[in-house]
Amino acid sequence: MSGTSLDGASPPAGAAGGGVGSPGRARIAERTLRTDRWWVQPAVTFTLLVIWLLYALVRTASQRAYFVEEFHYLSPFSSPCVSSSCIPAARDFGTWFGDFPPFVPFALLVLPFLLGFRLTCYYYRKAYYRAFWLSPPACAVAEPHGKYTGETRFPLIMQNLHRYFFYAAIIVSLINTYDMVRAFRGADGGFGIGLGTVVMVFNVVMLWLYTISCHSCRHLMGGRLKHFSAHPVRYRAWTAVSRLNTRHMQLAWTTLGTLMFTDAYIALVSSGALNDLRLVN
Ligand code: FES
Repeated sequence: MSGTSLDGASPPAGAAGGGVGSPGRARIAERTLRTDRWWVQPAVTFTLLVIWLLYALVRTASQRAYFVEEFHYLSPFSSPCVSSSCIPAARDFGTWFGDFPPFVPFALLVLPFLLGFRLTCYYYRKAYYRAFWLSPPACAVAEPHGKYTGETRFPLIMQNLHRYFFYAAIIVSLINTYDMVRAFRGADGGFGIGLGTVVMVFNVVMLWLYTISCHSCRHLMGGRLKHFSAHPVRYRAWTAVSRLNTRHMQLAWTTLGTLMFTDAYIALVSSGALNDLRLVN
């Protein structure tokens, strides 16, 4: 039936000659034969991602309320803070740059790696290809684009860099872990725990779970092995990562939530709108 319409109608607009209109594909006039509300999922994904991106953009560009000096709560959106524009007590890793102009995120040093890690993530690719590029918007729904080249040429071929962004993400997670340890600080400068500490611990645990549930991490643990029996340690690690990997999508969303919540909590305490609930000291 190649090249022949099932009902004699022409292929969907924009699809002629490429994409779903490629030679060898069945000609179906309707954009989809699905009768369920397939558009809900991409619409929700689009809305939530846009809200998150706008929040992150406003918060990082504001350069405000990112640090609670008394309890050493540093927002993950501004860490590591290594510019002379940062509050001196927040510069645990030193001062690498001079003053940042207004609107430049303090975490500029790690931002390209973090964005690269998330943008090339296997789950997020699926999410934004569907929700933003509509390529395709859902299973069995024709995309509006006239041709499809996949990830075979620039810029999408860059998706293959994911494993290297994974290595960078490990370093960023270690920095977040350091910030979390620093947040065990009391009002007198000694040991202490507040609600902010708990929020930061939860965020860091979730970030680690998201990071090690990565497909590249799974490959690193168990890939290119001919016999698992000869590598029992790697087999165990691969099994554990594989279990986490089945939750990768949920962890991707959870970490967006915990990052936003941690930053918002620190912003509220830092601006004086909220008092940190102290549990110890
Ligand atoms: Fe999602 Fe690697 S696949 S972080």
